[in-house]
Amino acid sequence: MTPTVLVSGGAGFIGSHVTVELIQAGYNVIVADNMSNCDKTCYNGAQKITGRKIPFFKMDFCNRRAVEKLFQTNKIDAVIHFAAFKAVGESVAQPVMYYRNNLDSFLNIVDAARTYGCPNILFSSSATVYGQPEKLPVTEESPRQEATSPYGNTKQICEDVLRDSVKAYGNIRGIALRYFNPIGAHPSALMGELPRGVPNNLVPFITQTAIGKRECLSIFGNDYPTPDGTCLRDYIDIVDLAKAHVCAVDRMMADKMKEPYEIFNIGTGKPVSVMELVNAFQKVNGVKLNYKIAPRRAGDVTAVWADPSKANKELGWKAQRTIEETLKAAWTWELFIAHK
Ligand code: UFG
Repeated sequence: MTPTVLVSGGAGFIGSHVTVELIQAGYNVIVADNMSNCDKTCYNGAQKITGRKIPFFKMDFCNRRAVEKLFQTNKIDAVIHFAAFKAVGESVAQPVMYYRNNLDSFLNIVDAARTYGCPNILFSSSATVYGQPEKLPVTEESPRQEATSPYGNTKQICEDVLRDSVKAYGNIRGIALRYFNPIGAHPSALMGELPRGVPNNLVPFITQTAIGKRECLSIFGNDYPTPDGTCLRDYIDIVDLAKAHVCAVDRMMADKMKEPYEIFNIGTGKPVSVMELVNAFQKVNGVKLNYKIAPRRAGDVTAVWADPSKANKELGWKAQRTIEETLKAAWTWELFIAHK
């Protein structure tokens, strides 16, 4: 029988791309989302791309009864958890809201999974757990550093919840994928990022500036100790990132895990500076960006990029798409939503 994967937050940016890749790899997918931070554009896009009617539940994972019911009434072979708040600044201003939402939802999932026979849990973690690493690139063995925001702390706590639960209950296994900076959009231009209000992240701010929704991009700091003075990040294409989830689910399903709880860095291994990204965007899309150098943004680390060799070797996954292809897709998506 075709295995079924539950994708919490499956209508969002990452969740919708993962849904498509899972279906294309032969899985059944159930999407559940409370739609608190997205509309149905990406979910509809996922249905169009796959040509499938994808089961959808509008529900909040903080509602314990609703989560139990979902696991009780569906045979779920694996769950991937994306349903969480993700704005760093907002989490500093609203810590209780962040802890409650991001922790309750995951606790409910782990509890329901172990109780109702779903053995495989995949958690979407973040490179934020590494803070500013002493040594670069970062491997999965690099130490986690004390989180600088409640958002980052919820990622660390959820990793620990999964690690401890796998160890204690014996009937579940878990993988945490630590994403670096996911960017881009589906090449079909039917799914992409839809930030509400002013974007926090670099690429949506770039595309919105290029299309005229924002006046000017601020480059936060050009006095960092990096080759061109701007911060270095590991930008990972959203479709490549989504494929990593399929590899991780395959690994769990096939019982190929070396440990019952595993962690993988999901990045390209190549550092790119803010300035390089801005220039690549202008060049590949033939557009001119209005930008200025602004003061550093509080909380930004200077440089972080992945050593993805564990994921390359163990998951059989490797980032494929070039930054140019990714930035082209991001721009095509912005043009698509502008004309919708
Ligand atoms: N940047 C700008 N101008 C902008 C937006 C961003 O110059 O308008 C710069 C930032 O200073 C940073 C780089 O672009 O150097 C990337 O910034 P993003 O906000 O896109 O991404 P971050 O690396 O800050 O964020 C990532 C993840 C978060 C995570 C955070 C923790 O996207 O989920 O790391 O530091 F919480």
